Amino acid sequence: MDRSGQPIGIFDSGIGGLTVANAIKSLLPNERIIYFGDSAHLPYGDKSADALRYFSIRITKFLLDKNCKTVVVACNSASSTAFDTIKDFYPDDIRFFNVVDPLVQEAVGKKYNKVGVIATKATIRSNAYSKKINALDPSINVVQLATPLLVHMIEEGFYNNNISHAILDNYLNQHRFENLDALLLACTHYPLIKQEIHDYFNGQVKILDPNLAVANQLKVYLESNQLLNNEVKNQEDQFYVSDFTESFLETVKIFYGKQIELQEIDIWK
Ligand code: DGL
Repeated sequence: MDRSGQPIGIFDSGIGGLTVANAIKSLLPNERIIYFGDSAHLPYGDKSADALRYFSIRITKFLLDKNCKTVVVACNSASSTAFDTIKDFYPDDIRFFNVVDPLVQEAVGKKYNKVGVIATKATIRSNAYSKKINALDPSINVVQLATPLLVHMIEEGFYNNNISHAILDNYLNQHRFENLDALLLACTHYPLIKQEIHDYFNGQVKILDPNLAVANQLKVYLESNQLLNNEVKNQEDQFYVSDFTESFLETVKIFYGKQIELQEIDIWK
């Protein structure tokens, strides 16, 4: 059976995962995507691992019911806490992607000595990055910090200004971040302030986000499994949220690069 025309499912806690969807769509323009933002349960960064596992299992079912050929967990908090559970729960012939592994692979592959991780509280609490990096290379010094205010700061449009500089300085001007080789942006929102963080460190620290690497991994997988959609069919992408507010509509353009239509759907009934 030819499954190449089936859509790619992508989910996140809200609209931040649109940065991942944007990278995927830019690299694979023929693919149709179905995006689900669980805005009813925002922010995932403040939820327990158990809650994130439950939400992730249910959302994955929604995307598989929509006939998705693969599912990308675009949220770092969900990737860090729920990814293994999703893989265990669903059939072996469905391949799932997350946003943690590409950053881990890059940190290890580049043989950095000291790597910083900034993310939500849920991601930092899971220790997913330090566990995975040190399982592959115990010599890498991984230092982490929860920086939850950055999510709200970015959503409210505060970046590249004196407020974002002050907040970043407060978070990053710490002993633990001295002599970093690389800083991993382990949250959907942070790619939007990548340049600002790069400048904060005067270009001395490599600033990494997973988005392009996830899109590349997906492309390789689709190609090698005859799942790449080579036909341009102009099928509409679909963007769902579990709770709609006007403020999402105002911010989607920042995350996706262009205006899109959001449809509300209640999968929690
Ligand atoms: N999408 C979340 C993440 O990448 C950030 C926003 C939230 O806390 O829901 O961890």
